[in-house]
Amino acid sequence: MKKFAIEMRSFWQAWLLVVLFLIVLAGSYAQSQSIGSPAPSSTISALNIDTTYLSPPLQFDFYATSCPEAPAIVSTMVMNATSYDFTVAPQLLRMFFHDCIVQGCDASLLLNSTLLYTNSPLYAEKDFQKNDRFDKFSFVDLIKQELESVCPGVVSCADILAMAAVSAIAATQGPEYQIELGRRDGLSSYQDNAQTHLPGFYLNVSGLLDSFNNAGLDIVDLVALSGAHTIGQGHCDSIQDRLQSPPIYPIYPSYFLNQMKTVCQTPDGTFDNNVVAIDMDVNSTFIFDNGYYKGLIAGVGLFTSDQFLYTDPRTMPLVELFAQNQELFFQQFGVSLRKMGKINVLTGTQGQIRQNCWVRNSNTADVDFLPRI
Ligand code: HEM
Ligand SMILES: *[C@@H]1O[C@H](CO)[C@@H](O)[C@H](O)[C@H]1NC(C)=O
Ligand SMILES: *[C@@H]1O[C@H](CO)[C@@H](O)[C@H](O)[C@H]1NC(C)=O
Ligand SMILES: *[C@@H]1O[C@H](CO)[C@@H](O)[C@H](O)[C@H]1NC(C)=O
Ligand SMILES: *[C@@H]1O[C@H](CO)[C@@H](O)[C@H](O)[C@H]1NC(C)=O
Repeated sequence: MKKFAIEMRSFWQAWLLVVLFLIVLAGSYAQSQSIGSPAPSSTISALNIDTTYLSPPLQFDFYATSCPEAPAIVSTMVMNATSYDFTVAPQLLRMFFHDCIVQGCDASLLLNSTLLYTNSPLYAEKDFQKNDRFDKFSFVDLIKQELESVCPGVVSCADILAMAAVSAIAATQGPEYQIELGRRDGLSSYQDNAQTHLPGFYLNVSGLLDSFNNAGLDIVDLVALSGAHTIGQGHCDSIQDRLQSPPIYPIYPSYFLNQMKTVCQTPDGTFDNNVVAIDMDVNSTFIFDNGYYKGLIAGVGLFTSDQFLYTDPRTMPLVELFAQNQELFFQQFGVSLRKMGKINVLTGTQGQIRQNCWVRNSNTADVDFLPRI
């Protein structure tokens, strides 16, 4: 009977693997169909020809001749910084997500708010509330300075975020991923774009999928990339909805609920919404592993959005699969991260290589300001 149960389990595992493989295959087929294929000539009319498909694709060895040291420089700096301050790595990984999901991987996250035209303040993504936890912008500037001194004007801020993200994973004992490079920096950053596109911690799978699908990411990407929550910390304001009554999704194990209350409620019962940092992967929050999924199964996922992944029948099997098979999680995470890294990238002659990551180059005319997406 026990043997049968085990065989049944491996049968389901094998089956899930097949399904997962097919989904990934279908995804890459759809992508190969939509990217790079010119519009049929009959639809090209007048002068309104869409040439975006002519932009060169990203490449793994993009800097091989122009700045071969770039990936190693980023990696060394991220390793070193993380060894002094363990919050560096998770922040860098999260920054890459927050850059890519809003308007594409164009370093729009790094631009400072500015005065557009005469007096009207233009608030950038950086000043949106969901980005106000980031305090490593100056470290990104440091990387940029170093790269500018070695190969001036060559490495984009958007690529720095990509290289820093994979370095952050390696710095927390995860796999050493390769990621394609050649992104260029965008010219605009709008706070309301961040508001529209950054997913909320209170969302269920349908809400999360709206956000991910909108960026060309699918349900497998959603479950795999959420695994980034295996490193880093949240704060009390991100679990407000779990401690309110009724919660959107209750914290089930009572010890975990009590722990959260102890951490996030002051003795007089008011809510401490800022100060305290809470580990997102209870057993190994600074190691990039599959502990996040084990946590979801144990009911100790930190956010409502995390825990919903183990409730919704569409995502639950994937959570189980990644909890059981770390190697598979590592593989899928790499694929999904690279896919995320290709969202709306600027390449070739699009955009620019910023000299400073927080501001557009001084010779950029206001007319270049891209329209909102
Ligand atoms: C699925 C939708 C997602 C939601 C709703 C979400 C939400 C959040 C929230 C609320 C925090 C904590 C902020 C705080 O309280 O300080 C957080 C942290 C984090 N997120 Fe996500 N996230 C999502 C997806 C992702 C993805 C796709 C990645 C990267 C690939 C990512 C990487 C991280 C990391 C590494 C941290 C820890 C940051 C730190 O320690 O400072 N998240 N996320
Ligand atoms: C390593 O990081 C520390 C702390 O931020 C810094 O003082 C030091 O200069 C860094 N070393 C290198 C080689 O980057
Ligand atoms: C840009 O914003 C960062 C914080 O994100 C700040 O430290 C820096 O001083 C700002 N730079 C300029 C030139 O305003
Ligand atoms: C997800 O949340 C939305 C908005 O709160 C709700 O309308 C919807 O029914 C929920 N979907 C599922 C599958 O729970
Ligand atoms: C954390 O580690 C303890 C002790 O090894 C184990 O009993 C528990 O199941 C782990 N929790 C999770 C969520 O993996």
